[in-house]
Amino acid sequence: MVQNERSNFGSKLGVVLASAGSAVGLGNIWRFPFETGNHGGAAFILIYLACVLVLGIPIMMAEFYIGRRARANTAGAYRKLAPGTPWCWVGRMGVLAGFLILSYYSVVAGWPLEYLVEAATGGFAGKEADQFIDSFNAFASQPLRPVIWLLLFLIATHLVIVRGVEKGIERSAKVMMPVLFILLVVLAVCAVSLPGASAGIEFLLKPDFSKVDGSVLLGAMGQAFFSLSLGLGCLCTYASYFRSDTSLPRTAFNVAAIDTLVAILAGFIIFPAAFAVGIQPDAGPSLLFITLPNVFQQAFGSTPLLAIALSLMFYVLLAVAALTSTISMHEVVTAYLHEEFKMSRRKAAVWVTLGCTILGICCSLSLGVGSSYTLCGMTLFDIFDFVTAKIMLPLGGFLIALFIGWYVDRRQVEEEISNHGTLKVHIVRLLLFVLRYVAPVAIGIIFINELGLIHL
Ligand code: PFF
Repeated sequence: MVQNERSNFGSKLGVVLASAGSAVGLGNIWRFPFETGNHGGAAFILIYLACVLVLGIPIMMAEFYIGRRARANTAGAYRKLAPGTPWCWVGRMGVLAGFLILSYYSVVAGWPLEYLVEAATGGFAGKEADQFIDSFNAFASQPLRPVIWLLLFLIATHLVIVRGVEKGIERSAKVMMPVLFILLVVLAVCAVSLPGASAGIEFLLKPDFSKVDGSVLLGAMGQAFFSLSLGLGCLCTYASYFRSDTSLPRTAFNVAAIDTLVAILAGFIIFPAAFAVGIQPDAGPSLLFITLPNVFQQAFGSTPLLAIALSLMFYVLLAVAALTSTISMHEVVTAYLHEEFKMSRRKAAVWVTLGCTILGICCSLSLGVGSSYTLCGMTLFDIFDFVTAKIMLPLGGFLIALFIGWYVDRRQVEEEISNHGTLKVHIVRLLLFVLRYVAPVAIGIIFINELGLIHL
């Protein structure tokens, strides 16, 4: 086994919370609801759940294997496990995907900060549904304010990263994750008890399979990869800091379960709320930001203090969830530069933060002054989201499945997954079957369908 002289997470709980912190983020609370809304509701959710179970958990275990076995950043890990082969390009593509996602993700991560200020200063008072839509559009298309929040967010991420793995990443996740969960439950209870919420609950629970087509499948698969932080080596990088007695299968199940629970809870906040105030569920990326202030206002407007307290709670929650995820993307790129180019961690982190700031500003401007620059009808922001979530992550997952399923020796997989025989694991055969056949075929079919070569 490769000797480990690098930093480690200090406890098993820290491992689960840090990985779940990476997984749980805007993907669950912002992206999952709008993708569900765009793709027709309950049927999309069922396909999403199938993707998590059949593709997500096995590929997560594969990433854990690669990271902990090699004890290196994602590109270095492939070099160690498959020296002299082109496999290290899978790792490098992951680093690029992490960098691109971090850039546009930080733009959205900054939005809750604006809403936090707005809520604290009573800015929601007296507004109607339409006005919330207008004020979101006016804010997101402004050149300056979103950029200031983006910068603040990247600086916060940077500060955690330079504190290192145990003191920075693990300690922050241990505080932030439980707070997040409690806040979500409180808000879901409030949302489902709003008058008129039942239509939203029905939208979430009654599947209509007549709306399912290839783009729904691609959407659900992309969302599963995005939400579980898979396909770019993020969990592979975290696994390189796992202790050698951490159970990889159990951690993968726990992380997937927590992530899915949070996404469903977010659905139970957004849809009942949207239907209660008459907002269409297919409003796209703005869904979360136009729905929630409306609810706080309409449902609790007669008790302004409660409205302010709940909205503050929600935006803090969003920012916290986003921060634990941006930390993990930043770590992928920082660890790569630090280990592969022998830069100090601090210097590597500065380069990542600077690079993401520049790309992030371009993405933010593409929603306003730069919105006329489009490719295939997509702004730069949409292109980053499409190329990463719908192409790079599933492609990364496809290659990771092939790597473990066909390249790595089966006995090595067994050895690592069972912690050198100290854990009884009965799933290695099933895992390898899925990684060899099921995952590559499923991802392949969805891709080919999207390219228009076959039609599902
Ligand atoms: N999983 C995160 C979320 O749901 O918000 C987003 C993300 C984090 C994607 C880390 C990819 C990644 F490597």
